[in-house]
Amino acid sequence: MAVPRTAPILVASNRGPVSYTLGEDGSLTARRGGGGLVSGLSAIGPESGGVWVCAALGEGDREAARRAGDSHLNPGDTGGQQVRMLDIAPDVFAAAYNGVANSVLWFVHHLLYQTPVEPVFDAEFAEQWAAYESYNAAFADALAQEAVDEAVVLVQDYHLALVPAMLRERRPDLRIGHFSHTPWAPPDYYRLLPDDVAAGVLRGILGGDRAAFLTERWATAFADCCAAVLGAEIVRDGDGDGDGSGSGDGGGMVTAVRFEGRETRLGVHGLGADADFLRERSRQADVDERLSTLRAQIGPGRKSIVRVDRTELSKNIVRGLLAYRRLLETRPEWRERVVHVAFAYPSRQDLAVYRDYTERVRRIADEINEEYGTEGWTPVALHVKDDFARSLAAYRLADVALVNPIRDGMNLVAKEVPVVSERGCALVLSREAGAYAELGEDALVVNPYDVEGTARALHEALRMSDDERADRTKRLAAAATSLPPQAWFLAQLRAL
Ligand code: G6P
Repeated sequence: MAVPRTAPILVASNRGPVSYTLGEDGSLTARRGGGGLVSGLSAIGPESGGVWVCAALGEGDREAARRAGDSHLNPGDTGGQQVRMLDIAPDVFAAAYNGVANSVLWFVHHLLYQTPVEPVFDAEFAEQWAAYESYNAAFADALAQEAVDEAVVLVQDYHLALVPAMLRERRPDLRIGHFSHTPWAPPDYYRLLPDDVAAGVLRGILGGDRAAFLTERWATAFADCCAAVLGAEIVRDGDGDGDGSGSGDGGGMVTAVRFEGRETRLGVHGLGADADFLRERSRQADVDERLSTLRAQIGPGRKSIVRVDRTELSKNIVRGLLAYRRLLETRPEWRERVVHVAFAYPSRQDLAVYRDYTERVRRIADEINEEYGTEGWTPVALHVKDDFARSLAAYRLADVALVNPIRDGMNLVAKEVPVVSERGCALVLSREAGAYAELGEDALVVNPYDVEGTARALHEALRMSDDERADRTKRLAAAATSLPPQAWFLAQLRAL
């Protein structure tokens, strides 16, 4: 049965709000995901008729998508949300998701290439780029089918950069916004991309009415890339209001990009932590249980330095470990008195560089434990298996949180810890995380490449007095929750 045009609000993202595992007997088990988008969308509720379009990621998803055909997934699996899961051919999906999105666009925006040897854009990449185009077209087709006249469509992230322009071509009546959850690369780095790809991504996003980012820094970088690559005109605050200051290159905030006779507005919405959800969830029995286990593991009277990340190159877990090793080396007074609790959850394990990175993290953690560990003290407690309840338990007890990404669109861990922390937690924060714009004043700020400086910041954080830590944590929590997911989502809707 074909889907009628009924949706007044649509969200499109690669990863949807639900994933499926296929049992040997052919049964499907649904697992609902969390995250900002899921709770953001709940602001409009299932009765709004909103539809979420996402891709089938694995075998279970593909089977669920096939069974649903062109219809929506079983609402019982999605908390009542209407979800259309696209069954994209596995080779096309792999080329678009692993090849282009995660190996190239992600790497460019997070400055992850080792440029003397990487990247290499060869014939294989050209094929992957064609797959990325057809994967984006599959989203544009589905959205065009589902949307009522003048519906609002919120397209998410670097996986779907071409969708706004493709959708406008199919449905010029729609109001289309794109949101980037990543940083945006500065022009010189962005231009590592082949020229047609660099231009294609920007043209794709500029096909929408609005392009939004997590911080002003990323919005400005996007506008700078539009100017450098496409020769587009940047509009800034104060431009064109007749006061003579509107030269287009003044110091005002970027507000729009003009290109080929159209104007795409720019916006900034710094997604915050969901305080209500976190406070409620972190008091549940499974979290209490893990809290006791963690306390026992750390040992009485010891402090903890906690980090929680996907095992992701941009998160800079290796330098975090090196800084901790340096702390133990230069400040022997902390030996036996602190444990580094590092949760590094598996991510994108189809990619060799992620697997290698995970191995490296394990190896360095082992080395530190061999070098410094004693009979009653294991300096690093590394956990590589995903467990949200255990993360919340660690947030509750952490004395220090280490958030040192090379670059990060926002980083929600930095925002979640202060909300959940029981006794106050000192935050060591990279100035390259989007969260720095809001939390910088009450965090101990580090240059993520500077291992020595990070070791010093860890020492300062461990020494911070209880009162100061509690005061700072209170202010951090207030700043971190100023735009919770539902308000974040509604702000984007309103702006369109
Ligand atoms: C980042 C991206 C998201 C992505 C998530 C997890 O936060 O902005 O779009 O879903 O990483 O990555 P994955 O590849 O597992 O979806």
